[in-house]
Amino acid sequence: MVTTRRTFLGMGTAAGLAAGMTPSLAFGQASIASVASTFGPPDGLALLSRNENPYGPAPSAIEAIAASAKNGCYYANRGLEKLTAMIAERHGVSPKQVVLGSGSTEILCAIALAWGAKGKIVAPGLFWDSTVKYGEAKGVSAVRVPLASDMSVDLAGMEAAFNEGGVSLVHVCNPNNPTGMVVPAAQLRALAAKVTPTTTLLVDEAYNELTDDPEAETLVDLVREGQDVIVCRTFSKIYGMAGMRVGYALTSEENAALISTYLMSFGGNVSGLAAAIAAYDDYGFLTQSKAMVQEGRQMILDAVATAGLTALPSQTNFVYVEVPDANAVQAAMAERDIAIRGAYGEWTQYSRVSCGYMEDVARYAAALPEIIDQLRA
Ligand SMILES: Cc1ncc(COP(=O)(O)O)c(C=O)c1O
Repeated sequence: MVTTRRTFLGMGTAAGLAAGMTPSLAFGQASIASVASTFGPPDGLALLSRNENPYGPAPSAIEAIAASAKNGCYYANRGLEKLTAMIAERHGVSPKQVVLGSGSTEILCAIALAWGAKGKIVAPGLFWDSTVKYGEAKGVSAVRVPLASDMSVDLAGMEAAFNEGGVSLVHVCNPNNPTGMVVPAAQLRALAAKVTPTTTLLVDEAYNELTDDPEAETLVDLVREGQDVIVCRTFSKIYGMAGMRVGYALTSEENAALISTYLMSFGGNVSGLAAAIAAYDDYGFLTQSKAMVQEGRQMILDAVATAGLTALPSQTNFVYVEVPDANAVQAAMAERDIAIRGAYGEWTQYSRVSCGYMEDVARYAAALPEIIDQLRA
């Protein structure tokens, strides 16, 4: 018998058993609904702890994932080239200046290893430091500069640490996570002017598109000018595609080539790339996504005020709230099936909450004043 696509699909169970599969695989027991519910939060949980954006992926992205699913049998080279070209065009750089990765995490880890092999990394005391820690676990040395008293990134302190010498990379996250605060552009540019003649400045702009003025906050223009700057971006935040794992860096051709030698996954999967290509210029969706984030953020800020608390000024999809005890607030929220972050190390007086579905943010907003009253009693 000649095996056509139809007869192949129809072979089903008997063929599965004949092929030596276990009965559960042969019978194909997982229903599509149960596969889908394997991802995302369990029923009833308000997931506000991880800076995801449940208003994505864009409808255009979801359509593209479905339409390209069959092409998952192929490696993703052409999609990779297409998205690289789109990103290069938007930012006015050459495709060789763009590196795509499995989320920006892969790229940031690669940078930590590559630059860590050349010298020390200077970074703030509190920022999204998973990737620097990844480097440290492999022998990279990092100098952490405490935040200023207003919780901003201490750029003068970072410059002083850079001036100590032996530094290969200065790493800033703008806006910063978990504080949500923007690093003032003029000051960051002044730091770039000091650092980049000899050393690389890395700016993780994961939340750039959610800021009030993304163009004013980005340092991509310094990449275009040829300064030694790496800017990292992601599809995980405004695009609402955290689980699709697509991120990218913009930098010089030389830096891009070095980063690429440290990547482990060769740049992407069909579904993630299809979604990213479809949504990249979907400005209708992006406007809506940002509006939902802003609405959720305002709801959080209103609850903070009602609870008699204060929060740092956020331009992201999360808010860092000053509380009596971050771990106690996290535990009390968990009792109500609301997931938020607990203390980050020594920062026990700050609690980070992300914007999620509006109804979930509303549950947080209703619970916060109650919980704070109980903690104060
Ligand atoms: C500042 C920052 N950079 C990078 C990432 C990693 O994002 P991804 O690997 O999903 O692109 C995160 C995730 O929360 C983040 O907060």
